[in-house]
Amino acid sequence: MTRTALVPTMGALHDGHLALVHRVRELADRVVVSIFVNPTQFGAGEGFDRYPRTLDADRALLGDLAEVFAPTVDEVYPPDNPPPVVHAGAMGDLWEGAARPSHFDGVLSVVNRLFDLVKPDIAVFGEKDWQQLTLIRRMVVERGLPSEIVGVPTVREPSGLALSSRNRNLSPDELEKAALLPAVLQQIAESGGTSESIIRGAARLDDAGFVVDYLDVVDENTLEPTIDSANARVIVAARIGTTRLIDNMPVAPVPER
Ligand code: PAF
Repeated sequence: MTRTALVPTMGALHDGHLALVHRVRELADRVVVSIFVNPTQFGAGEGFDRYPRTLDADRALLGDLAEVFAPTVDEVYPPDNPPPVVHAGAMGDLWEGAARPSHFDGVLSVVNRLFDLVKPDIAVFGEKDWQQLTLIRRMVVERGLPSEIVGVPTVREPSGLALSSRNRNLSPDELEKAALLPAVLQQIAESGGTSESIIRGAARLDDAGFVVDYLDVVDENTLEPTIDSANARVIVAARIGTTRLIDNMPVAPVPER
């Protein structure tokens, strides 16, 4: 039986997306990459209109690796038969959700709708958007959806910077500075996520001119702050100039003494 995998994207594809495609090609015979800039996950002034739309280049990058599914807004959200809105609940109000109210309702609703349209056996998401991945995993369980969710580790530049379509907005100077973000995460992760390491990391980012939205260590499933290094992630969102970057890393567990 053909196994179908879905790689949901908003286009402007880069090597991070290709890593998702390559991973999922090991798991399924048919790979569909959806390219849809989802209006419902953008708040007012969050750049929905400015989001890069590079469909031809995206198709060229994918070549024969995957089928492209690029639906219109009316196909995804038929006005006469609107699909359900999926609410992210309290977990969706944390971290990214605090800065972007209803963002995760938009993400979950479109992912649920794309699953309905493509009917994937497997769907793959990058670990870079850890909160998104966690909420999608939870939605699949809660709604009893028949798709397996696979998370793929973040692909990084040689400098350590996580690949993101937003990196193209950084000036050469900002690009160089942005490498501090993963360096700080790594230091916190290797220290076992102590509060001292978080304070030191935030100060380093501040000194380098970042505006830190959040930098914390959280339980990787509940996303609540934790001081336990087991199953923990250090998460960050910080602005450099006008570009807001997010990243996260697993915390190295500190052996019990
Ligand atoms: O991560 C993204 O690019 C988007 O949030 C997603 C999952 C494709 C939903 O629009």
